[in-house]
Amino acid sequence: MKIIAVANQKGGCAKTTTVVNLAACLAELGKQVLVIDLDSQANATTWLGAEHSTGHAFKLLTTKTSLEDLIAPTNLDGVSIVSGSRELANFEKAVAGEIAVETRLKRRLIGLDSSKWDFVLVDTPPTLGLITLNALSCAKELIVPVTTHVLSLSGVAQLVETLEEVKEVLNPSLNILGFVACRVDSRTRHSKEILELLINQFGDKVLKSTIRESIRLAEAPSFQLSINQYGSKSSAADDYRALAAEVISLTQ
Ligand SMILES: Nc1ncnc2c1ncn2[C@@H]1O[C@H](COP(=O)(O)OP(=O)(O)OP(=O)(O)O)[C@@H](O)[C@H]1O
Ligand SMILES: [Mg+2]
Repeated sequence: MKIIAVANQKGGCAKTTTVVNLAACLAELGKQVLVIDLDSQANATTWLGAEHSTGHAFKLLTTKTSLEDLIAPTNLDGVSIVSGSRELANFEKAVAGEIAVETRLKRRLIGLDSSKWDFVLVDTPPTLGLITLNALSCAKELIVPVTTHVLSLSGVAQLVETLEEVKEVLNPSLNILGFVACRVDSRTRHSKEILELLINQFGDKVLKSTIRESIRLAEAPSFQLSINQYGSKSSAADDYRALAAEVISLTQ
């Protein structure tokens, strides 16, 4: 069982899109995937058609409810979810004064049946707050989506800094699996420049798979379908399938 956090405190850099479609493409390859939606916007929960189970991630973080009771099916075979909800925005207040709150998720996931799940993908909110720290503390691997259609590298240095602190204090075995360039538009010089900048800075930590700009991908959530369902032959489906294969080979 591999626990992978998908994080970048920059808003709208394709974290949720990556979690949902990577989960879908891993499942297509026969993997059992659990998504944990830690974002109060609950976009992954809605996209995966699991809004009926709302609030389970908050319960996971703040109560002793059995983990098994908090796992709900999604509209994708092979993908289950611990759903997000608006209450997650109140997590810091809810646990004020309690101890070791950064590692609460890690301690709760010890109860997970590791023979049942191949991958756990954790979607995070666009902040470096307590919720994201919980994700970074429980994960073995980190995927950082970076969009290349706007200059979005500014926050990456801060993320790397936080990561170093997390490794030192909370989770020494955390590894950056890789940066994944998203919304790549090879027709624009800007997009190419940002990709080059990323490779200059992070070398082989930049994943080979890149996700191209795709209208199909932007449309898919309104239909509550993943890209391999909504546009099985689209460029974005090819890209997320390649990412899933790369993630499998890097985590073997
Ligand atoms: N490859 C792509 N092509 C076109 N649009 C994309 C692509 N990837 C993501 N988007 C769009 O970018 C927007 C932001 O994506 P997404 O919600 O996945 O980002 P996020 O990092 O989860 O945002 P937040 O920080 O708010 O949680 C969405 O409207 C999504 O449809
Ligand atoms: Mg999101």
